[in-house]
Amino acid sequence: MSAELRFPDGFIWGTATAAHQVEGNNVASDWWAREHRPDTDLPEPSGDAADSYHRYREDVDLVADAGLGMYRFSVEWARIEPEPGAFSRAELDHYRRMVDAVRDRGVEPMVTLHHCTNPLWFARRGGWRAADAPELFARYVERVLPVLDDVEWVCTINEPNMVSMLRDWEAVEMNAARLPAPDPEVSDTLVAAHRRAREVLAGAGGIRSGWTIGCQDFQALPGSEDRMREFAYPREDLFTLAAAGDDFVGVQNYSRNVIGPDGPVPLAPGTETNILGWEYYPAGLGNAIRHTWELAPGTPIVVTENGFATRDDERRIDHTAASLAGVRAALDEGIDVRGYLYWSLLDNYEWGSYAPTFGLVEWDRETFERRPKPSLGWLGEVARTGVVPERPEREAARS
Ligand code: BGC
Repeated sequence: MSAELRFPDGFIWGTATAAHQVEGNNVASDWWAREHRPDTDLPEPSGDAADSYHRYREDVDLVADAGLGMYRFSVEWARIEPEPGAFSRAELDHYRRMVDAVRDRGVEPMVTLHHCTNPLWFARRGGWRAADAPELFARYVERVLPVLDDVEWVCTINEPNMVSMLRDWEAVEMNAARLPAPDPEVSDTLVAAHRRAREVLAGAGGIRSGWTIGCQDFQALPGSEDRMREFAYPREDLFTLAAAGDDFVGVQNYSRNVIGPDGPVPLAPGTETNILGWEYYPAGLGNAIRHTWELAPGTPIVVTENGFATRDDERRIDHTAASLAGVRAALDEGIDVRGYLYWSLLDNYEWGSYAPTFGLVEWDRETFERRPKPSLGWLGEVARTGVVPERPEREAARS
């Protein structure tokens, strides 16, 4: 049995989405182009997604009505600057309305400026390989400042470590164990872009900025400790070290990765996984928080993503409750964890497919009608009471 857990007053509870995964019709982006290439490697295109571009008020209502205090969403560079230097006032106004809609419902917005997708023109001129990429990103951030007026929490780049690994579109999965090693030059450029964006944001005043890292909970088999550190540095640690001293760092964890002498160790047959084949391992979150605190001591942590892609909503709740036990333990150890955001509010476009369902809410593919799952009510109750109720441990091998 997992015992009841109490969280401190003021702990932030919320949920997250990202533009390309829920808005639909992100036609000026590199992902849209990839989805529609005749020889595309992706199982399906994003299409209308959850139509959150038009239905964001319904989404915000779901967050607020559940009792959650924060909604993390991203603004889409490809919409705001669809051609180099051509900034759309209408799209900026759209995102400003979105921030206002969140605030009007008494929810705190957390805005991500870059979540995996690039404007197609930016990708075509070399993306994060181009030496002037940080300046182009900073110019975009400067233009977004009016949207961010009175927004306190801003993420510059989501999972720069994954961006660096996905750079050549060789693979889709957001799993470091299954992706090529990052290109060190791309990683350095991303760090430079993050720093330039933070300077621009600092100039506006009142903004806490940081970036959000795909934390993999790398674990070494006995004797493979050095191999593990070597594996982890370019894929995660470089980015966490760069976050030290920022206003906050986002920890995003979904599982663990065991590293042996030959690199990632395949899962043993029969291991319970999510729909993507990632091990059910909720202890990964606490480990990720501890590791981040070791590399960036004193930098406040927000869990900006954590979730489980499953059709079994009870198992989602099991995973969330067990993950929160790790957060509670980290707080007990004196680690400054400010909040927990579940990924994701909605079932969404999981970078190539709608099959992996991470959402607290499902929706009808024809009508877009939102249907909250029991997990939304469960997390809302946790947010309202600050208590994760006791939950029997269950053995499950479903997805
Ligand atoms: C990303 C999300 C993604 C989730 C699950 C994170 O790596 O930020 O966009 O949907 O993991 O793969």
